[in-house]
Parts: sequence; C-alpha cells; structure tokens
Amino acid sequence: MDKKTFENFKTLIFEKTGIHLTEQKVALVSARMGKRMRALGIPDYDQYYKYLTNEKSGHEMVEMVNAISTNVTHFFREGRHFDFMAETLRNWSKNGLGRLRIWCAASSSGEEPYSLAITATKNTPPGTKIEIVASDISTKVLQIAKFGVYKRQDVEKIPHETMKQYFQKGTGKAQDLFRVKQELRDLISFRQINLSTPPYPVEAPLDFIFCRNVMIYFNQDLRRILVKTMVDMLKPGGYLVVGMAESLSGIHENLKSVEPSVYFKSSS
Ligand SMILES: C[S@@+](CC[C@H](N)C(=O)[O-])C[C@H]1O[C@@H](n2cnc3c(N)ncnc32)[C@H](O)[C@@H]1O
Repeated sequence: MDKKTFENFKTLIFEKTGIHLTEQKVALVSARMGKRMRALGIPDYDQYYKYLTNEKSGHEMVEMVNAISTNVTHFFREGRHFDFMAETLRNWSKNGLGRLRIWCAASSSGEEPYSLAITATKNTPPGTKIEIVASDISTKVLQIAKFGVYKRQDVEKIPHETMKQYFQKGTGKAQDLFRVKQELRDLISFRQINLSTPPYPVEAPLDFIFCRNVMIYFNQDLRRILVKTMVDMLKPGGYLVVGMAESLSGIHENLKSVEPSVYFKSSS
C-alpha cells in the first residue's frame, strides 16, 4: 500500500471509529483491507477505497470497521478487576442492593460481559435486579456475543463449578461447544455503540463502567471526551474500570484512583 492510499484509509478509519493509526500500522491496514478485497474480488487498494467510499448502502463500511477492529479478549481477563468488583458488590450488598447497572463498553465477543454477569450474580443478594449493557462498534463480534457459544479452549480456565452453573455443554457434534445459559444471557442487552461519537445511548446512572483495552486505539482528545462522558454517566460512588495498560492520570479531576486502572467517582 503506498503512502497516499494509507493516508486515505487512516483518515477514513479515524472518522468512522476514532481509531488512531500511526505510520507503523501500514502492514496491519494492508492485511485487514486485503481480507475484504479478497472477499469482494477487488485487486487493488485504491479500487477498494473507491468502492468503500462510494457504496451507498453502508454495508461495506460496516465490514471494513469489523475488519479493522482488534477483538482479542477472554473470560475473566485481567482477573483483579473481577475480584475488585466482587469485593465491592459484597460491601454494597450489606446495605441491601435493589438494582445494579453496569455498562461494558467495547465488549468484543462477549467474554467480558458474561464474566461481569457471573461476578454480579455470585456476589449480590438473590432478587437483585442486574442490568448489563454490552456494546461494541463491530457488528460481527456483537453477533457472536449475543449467541454466547464458546469453544472448549475459550472456557477451559473457568472453574468447574462456575461452568456447571452458567454454561450448557453441547452434545454430539457440538460436544466441544459451551453455551452461556439463558438466565445469564437475559441479564445483558447487546447493542452497537461507537465510542468515538458521544453522547452514548445507555441509561444512566451506572454503578460500574468497564471500558477496557479500547482507549489505547484512541488519541488523547477522544480519550478525554470519552472519560468525561462516562464520568457523567456514573453514579457518585460508582467505578470506571479501564485496561491494566491504560492510565487516566491527569484526564479527569473528579476521579480518584483506588487501585491501578480502577477509578472511583467521588460525590463532589
Ligand atoms: C481489544 S478488544 C477489548 C475487549 C474487552 N474490552 C477486553 O478488554 O477484553 C477492543 C474492542 O474495542 C472495539 N472498538 C474499537 N473501536 C471502537 C469504537 N470506536 N467504539 C466501540 N468499540 C470499539 C473493537 O471492536 C474490539 O471489540
């Protein structure tokens, strides 16, 4: 891919997703766009760019966004966050907890929101109304997440008791597949939300917002706007959790760091 074509894709991708690509990402963009070109039988990058930007239905733009997003995730990733949430929920539960509202932004293929749903049901009193919104920009991963079916290797680190309680094992040809049980799926509403275009259509106030391992793709201006918007959506006393490699230092004055990558919204 030549420099000019890369610049075209870079600008378009930034406009559509907020993803900020440096010059070092030429190989990545070439590989991801190449996948779409093969699917469509288009032989060169410029031609694909023209097709993409002229295609009226917007379908190819969705496919391009699906192709450019990096969706790596796994169950109970960065496990300390789930321990922290469990401890917090047990504390909140001492004073009774009628309702718990969580937003999992950039939820990828569902492992993260299902891990949140398991942690929430295990650590709140029976009868607590648990509502989780899970969102992503990619329609492809949202489809996988909604379906809630995972391979044996995806779930092998989950303790046996948890598997028994929350997953249904397939039979016959599907014996290496595991589906999240309906009662857990029912706690989550999946929707497409682009984090680069606030305000976000999620009902506030929220007790927890998990926005992990996505801000690394954004520039500082977008991070600032995103964090401000999310802080406004949190209830006082609620928590914003970001990826372990993402720090919010200096980004928002109303947030107190309680441990690495976990931020508390104070009441003032
Ligand atoms: C590396 S995954 C992280 C998944 C999960 N949060 C975790 O920590 O395991 C990043 C996710 O961010 C999503 N993403 C990228 N840009 C986005 C945007 N502008 N709005 C919403 N989601 C976005 C991608 O589709 C991908 O699923």
